[in-house]
Amino acid sequence: MKGIILAGGSGSRLYPITLGVNKHLLPVYDKPLIYYPLATLMLANIRDILLITRPEDQDLYKTILGNGRQWGIHITYATQDHPRGIAESIIIAEDFVGTSPFALILGDNMFFGHGFRSMLLDAARHETGATIFCNWVIDPERFGVAEFDRQNTLISIEEKPEHPKSNYAITGLYFYDTQAIEFAKNLKPSPRGEIEITDLNRLYLEKKQLKTVNLHRGFAWLDTGTHESLLDASNYVATIEKRQGLKIACLEEIAWRNNWISDEQFLACYHKNKNSSYGAYLHRIYHQGKYAGSLSNIRFA
Ligand code: TTP
Repeated sequence: MKGIILAGGSGSRLYPITLGVNKHLLPVYDKPLIYYPLATLMLANIRDILLITRPEDQDLYKTILGNGRQWGIHITYATQDHPRGIAESIIIAEDFVGTSPFALILGDNMFFGHGFRSMLLDAARHETGATIFCNWVIDPERFGVAEFDRQNTLISIEEKPEHPKSNYAITGLYFYDTQAIEFAKNLKPSPRGEIEITDLNRLYLEKKQLKTVNLHRGFAWLDTGTHESLLDASNYVATIEKRQGLKIACLEEIAWRNNWISDEQFLACYHKNKNSSYGAYLHRIYHQGKYAGSLSNIRFA
């Protein structure tokens, strides 16, 4: 299984902040936003990752993330020169994907909640068809919306409908088999000029090959597209991390507990960050031990 992170776009709803800095490099409390989707893919045991950015941002991402070796993963880079739609990322990723099923996550989507890892591993196990993740929201008209019948079977999906048929938004995390590439290539741009991921998902639905996972109400799905939601996301992460003393989306922690990096590599990451509270966290969990305390019930690969 391979992974794609789409981190292009203009971020115009965050102007003037994003006039000079790409949205996915903005801080969400103690780490850049891009760490969160990266962590999601790593939790799905995906180690081969393509990061799609705007051409002008690519060098900065390479400086910050490198080739991923420090986290035991492999990051390669591609560009999207204009935000022509989420489904375009799949066309851009054609060579990278090859014959492998893959996960696609939007660079500004954050997930946190009980059982997430097993949901991801379950979706990654399916080699055919597609899987989408839906979450109940107050403002479904801003998203792709999923409609279910009384048996909880998905019956329709619509992109940003004026009159949503449900409150279930389709989140920015998708798992696809390789059919997705040909499907995406044949999509026509929508009236707003984008190659819509909703149209791709609808093709899978019509073929009865679309699985849905409904995230339960205790689950946090945050997107960070506006000033308000960016601040909310930071506050959310700060609250959880301060209360638990455990970090959300700490890439070094995931890699180390997964045995993707050695103790020495982990300590090298600590030294790089040692002046920050992020570094102090790495130091603390190292001394608590890899399998310590409340994490002992998490099964890593
Ligand atoms: P959006 O929030 O729809 O767009 P945006 O990030 O450009 O922001 P704005 O609406 O404020 O101008 O995008 C959701 C995510 O998908 C975000 O992480 C950017 C990414 N994206 C691309 O990288 N390329 C695209 O063509 C589109 C449509 C989105």
